[in-house]
Amino acid sequence: MLSFSILNLGLSLAALSSAQQIRSDPGVAGPPLEIVHLYNDQWPTGITVSRSGRKFSNYPSGLDANNTNTGTNNKHAVAEILPNGTEAAYPNSEINNPPGGAINYTTSPPTGANYQNYLIGVQSVVLDAQDRLWILDTGRALLPDGTLVNASPGGPKLVGVNIQTNTVFQTIVFPPTVAYPDSYLNDVRFDLRPSVTPSGAGVAYITDSSNAGRNGIIVVDLGTSESWRRLDGVVETRPERGFVPYVWGQPLYYLPGPDQPLTTVPLGSDGIALSADGATLFFGPVGGRGLYSVPTARLRDHSPTAELRAQAALNNRAQRGVSDGFETDTNGFVYMGNMEQNEIGFHNPANASMTLFVRDPRISWVDTMSVASDGHLYFTDNQLAFSSAFYPGEDRRERPFVLFRAPLPGNGSRVFLK
Ligand SMILES: *[C@@H]1O[C@H](CO)[C@@H](O)[C@H](O)[C@H]1NC(C)=O
Ligand SMILES: *[C@@H]1O[C@H](CO)[C@@H](O)[C@H](O)[C@H]1NC(C)=O
Ligand SMILES: *[C@@H]1O[C@H](CO)[C@@H](O)[C@H](O)[C@H]1NC(C)=O
Ligand SMILES: *[C@@H]1O[C@H](CO)[C@@H](O)[C@H](O)[C@H]1NC(C)=O
Ligand SMILES: *[C@@H]1O[C@H](CO)[C@@H](O)[C@H](O)[C@H]1NC(C)=O
Repeated sequence: MLSFSILNLGLSLAALSSAQQIRSDPGVAGPPLEIVHLYNDQWPTGITVSRSGRKFSNYPSGLDANNTNTGTNNKHAVAEILPNGTEAAYPNSEINNPPGGAINYTTSPPTGANYQNYLIGVQSVVLDAQDRLWILDTGRALLPDGTLVNASPGGPKLVGVNIQTNTVFQTIVFPPTVAYPDSYLNDVRFDLRPSVTPSGAGVAYITDSSNAGRNGIIVVDLGTSESWRRLDGVVETRPERGFVPYVWGQPLYYLPGPDQPLTTVPLGSDGIALSADGATLFFGPVGGRGLYSVPTARLRDHSPTAELRAQAALNNRAQRGVSDGFETDTNGFVYMGNMEQNEIGFHNPANASMTLFVRDPRISWVDTMSVASDGHLYFTDNQLAFSSAFYPGEDRRERPFVLFRAPLPGNGSRVFLK
């Protein structure tokens, strides 16, 4: 009886090894990805594509010490990606080169330089509905040892650039009660409809993703330059305690700085998108998988009970996976990376669910997305999960970083709220 079983086992193993019929994950779904640009030099996060197809990226010194301008290394915070594949400092090299560099070493400890007229640490670039480029400066930069310095007043700001003349037309500096020294201004969306503010010049909504718990949504009146915080420190803007995402099968633990113990991912509200009609703001933390929303009217409100009513109007819309930036198209779909699945998905508010859009084994970290007028979703993949900010702390990124694009479903295109 025993010898019969062993014989049987031998036969089935032989059958198995020759069968090759085992079902496996195909790893690819949706439209094919097209490579638009390869980043071989500075490490990028943002991408935004103009109506005529001009492309702008930024290179945050708050997430990669090699992006920090030292006053002599000629690093840029923002560039235009030119048709011949070169990246040229934008809108000019002067604004990208603060005198003495991005860090003020005369303070103890060092701090972000306080310049209003120079770029310190840019986390996002976004074109508004009039195709004006807005540069979101955190005012923060990494020291060579990986310490993130606090901002000084003047550093955290929103800089508007006219891309026809390539000149700055407006600078909105945030007071330290709105952008705290340890805030991290992450991403921004614009609604230029005259009806949304008394000034008639439109509004910006910004996420604060700070790894120090300073999480919330900042609202800016583009006419008066006034700014205020909403949903400050509520659970929906904060990372979930104990949150450990997985990328390419590896758990991500965070290294807060030199000689500090590991933590779970402490990054709060980061991705942000407006509904196609501007009435709803979607957002979510990197340290969590929830997709949250709030009516934009509740964020703009200035009444004494505005914050109470904003909190009372919060919604939990979906489980998106782990994402960084969000984007919206004319279908009303809200696109979000799902890094744990090598995928980008979208939420359709009309059926309250998530749908897979594109999946590819080259996807590791979908940082920023930009829906363009050519009917494509552009996105940067910058391998953030393999940077020295995550355990084991060695830089395991490999150049090039990539700008991909894929055609949108249902003839989706860019939304213009104006
Ligand atoms: C800066 O670049 C060097 C050389 O490529 C690399 O070893 C180092 O990890 C980078 N630093 C950061 C913070 O990414
Ligand atoms: C790329 O194009 C820009 C703008 O036309 C030009 O200044 C630059 O020299 C070009 N670079 C290369 C390597 O062709
Ligand atoms: C550096 O800090 C000193 C002391 O606070 C301040 O006087 C000076 O303006 C700062 N310079 C820059 C460029 O931030
Ligand atoms: C929701 O809508 C999208 C877009 O039309 C569709 O692809 C998806 O199948 C729908 N999901 C469900 C659960 O009905
Ligand atoms: C997309 O546009 C094409 C050409 O205008 C049209 O034939 C097609 O029906 C549209 N598809 C959808 C899903 O709207």
